[in-house]
Amino acid sequence: MRDFVETEPRVRIEVRLDEEDRRSALHDETFWGLRAEPKELSPVWLYDERGSRLFERITRLPEYYPTRSERKILGRCAAEVAARTGAATLIELGSGTSEKTRLLLDALQAAGTLGCFVPLDASEDVLLRSARTVAERYPALRVHAIVGDFERHLGALPEGRRRLVAFLGSTIGNLHPERRGRFLAALAAVLGPGDALLLGVDLVKDPGVIEAAYNDPGGVTEEFVRNALTALNRDLHADFAQRRFAYQACWDPAREWVDIALRALEGHAVRVEELEADVVFAAGERLRIEVSAKFRRESLERELAAAGMRLEEWWTDADGSFALLLARVGRGRALD
Ligand code: AVJ
Repeated sequence: MRDFVETEPRVRIEVRLDEEDRRSALHDETFWGLRAEPKELSPVWLYDERGSRLFERITRLPEYYPTRSERKILGRCAAEVAARTGAATLIELGSGTSEKTRLLLDALQAAGTLGCFVPLDASEDVLLRSARTVAERYPALRVHAIVGDFERHLGALPEGRRRLVAFLGSTIGNLHPERRGRFLAALAAVLGPGDALLLGVDLVKDPGVIEAAYNDPGGVTEEFVRNALTALNRDLHADFAQRRFAYQACWDPAREWVDIALRALEGHAVRVEELEADVVFAAGERLRIEVSAKFRRESLERELAAAGMRLEEWWTDADGSFALLLARVGRGRALD
């Protein structure tokens, strides 16, 4: 584990995830995913440098409503979040560029309680850049950035008494339900009675609106998803041919998630040299790249309870398309 303080003294960087570690976990998951039924990749393949740039473009597409909806809600509820939590430490999981987080940082700073910001992200480059930007913008703040995986490194979070853990952007929707349950339970285990969770979730709505968000006419989302194959070809010396696959993102009403895949147009085999694997695709077979689950308040409340947390507050936008919720550990009375 590397741990260093930058020339800028208020930024401390802790590297939990070394490249070796990260690669072997990802390769292992990919090895099994390509043998699963249906075939499935880790969404991590989407976020190399090019993929992260494409995702930034997605967040600005007119069809992709989640980012805008969440920002609007955050703008309206940030002061209340600050008042309710009195957070001394803001921890952000999967922080990325921490762009929307400024609304929270501003509110917590105005409330006068915040001393430390802890962004955690798997991408060291993006994390360093955003940690420096935040440190510059908020001179009174200590920044302790952690290069890590939000599923594996919750134990690395700094101790403290009034910590607010933010997990925004409906990133939690990328996890399958079983994995989501394990993640929420692990999170509940590290939260103390004075801590809180601020979770951003995309909500179940008109399937037409949801599907449009993943099928923009300019094809930015398709390019983003196809980039996973490009990354695999580069990092695992695979020979996926883009023209042999069609992009497909559809709403699954039973699982209530968007199933995002590349569908083989013809039967063929793909060699993945690094995994010593020949992967056979039937004509029409799908390779799932990610799922994006959408949520309902009642079922989410049950999931939180099963993990040992209770819902304290729930904010949505005018048309109920997205929600931010505040939860804490413990049983207690459900929100009425
Ligand atoms: C970053 C996982 C929230 O599921 O909406 C956007 C990723 N994929 N368009 C989402 C994504 C295609 C995004 N999350």
